[in-house]
Amino acid sequence: MQADFRSDTVTRPTQAMMQAMMQAPLGDDVLGDDPSVKLLEAYVSDLFGMEDALFCPSGTMTNQIAIKAHTQPGDELICSHLAHIYNYEGGGIAANSGVQARCGGDDLGRLTADDVKALIQPSGNVHLAATRLISVENTANKGGGSCMGLPMLEAIGQVAKSHNLAYHLDGARLFNALVRDKEDPKSYGQCFDSISLCLSKGLGAPVGSLLLGSKTFIQSGQRIRKRMGGGMRQSGLLAAAGLYALENHVEQLAEDHAKAQLIDQWLSECSWVSERKPCETNMVIFKVIDSHQASDIQERLASSGIHIVAMDSQWLRFVTHMDINDAHMAHLDKALKSL
Ligand SMILES: Cc1ncc(COP(=O)(O)O)c(C=O)c1O
Repeated sequence: MQADFRSDTVTRPTQAMMQAMMQAPLGDDVLGDDPSVKLLEAYVSDLFGMEDALFCPSGTMTNQIAIKAHTQPGDELICSHLAHIYNYEGGGIAANSGVQARCGGDDLGRLTADDVKALIQPSGNVHLAATRLISVENTANKGGGSCMGLPMLEAIGQVAKSHNLAYHLDGARLFNALVRDKEDPKSYGQCFDSISLCLSKGLGAPVGSLLLGSKTFIQSGQRIRKRMGGGMRQSGLLAAAGLYALENHVEQLAEDHAKAQLIDQWLSECSWVSERKPCETNMVIFKVIDSHQASDIQERLASSGIHIVAMDSQWLRFVTHMDINDAHMAHLDKALKSL
């Protein structure tokens, strides 16, 4: 048996999702007339109570468009030292926007309002870059799927307002946080100037992310998306998969979280595991004892058909998702016991 715990991006579209794709009315989204893309953008804007939305190929693109639209070259943005935009987007902050990052926060990828205040550059000093944007990530990937929670996010929002800074959310896995904390998407819509959401992580769609914001922000986003080569033609096929995912696959995220809890519990009983990040959603990040190598554990599990990611020489990651079933879990339990 093969069980793929590397990421929640490995899911395959279900038959019902493919049916929805086949039945989607199509147009040309670069010409602005693909009805299925329009439907998805309207659905998500409405869900979050934001003015407009833009369908893009990836979460990297929605984040990078947001950064570019909020800043000017030479500006500075504030984010966690673990943020995806800072670590895993190919240096895009600098390459696409000519912006530098000032990082802080804890080892779960979270920032507090006080962290942010301390990272804002004082204005009026020509030696310093101008802080223009605060970007947070919820849930935080490299933080082990940790959640910041609305009060923490709203407190940062107050700081952003009082310093006249733009506030962006990398919500690649925001639905995991919403389901866990039973929060209302509209509260997030009120909190942020822009939100990036991914449909291809956990929700089971094959491709696609959305950027949310005001009408004028999304208008400038459209131009940046075109320039980056992200204008797609009959993308209603993909939008239909995304809409199906939003209508049918959000609630099941709670099952992924329960499976991650179980893995966390099994790892707590393994003598070769020295540390685990708090398991809050669908990820379990853990460290092996000094005498072991992460790559060794990864290879031994792979030889039993269980695939996970080694994050460095000591840390590894399990991610649960909708294609992990009870048989995969039982197989993993057995493999961990015999390792
Ligand atoms: C938190 C976070 N943001 C953004 C992205 C980028 O998404 P994509 O792979 O669609 O570019 C990822 C991808 O894993 C992610 O985990």
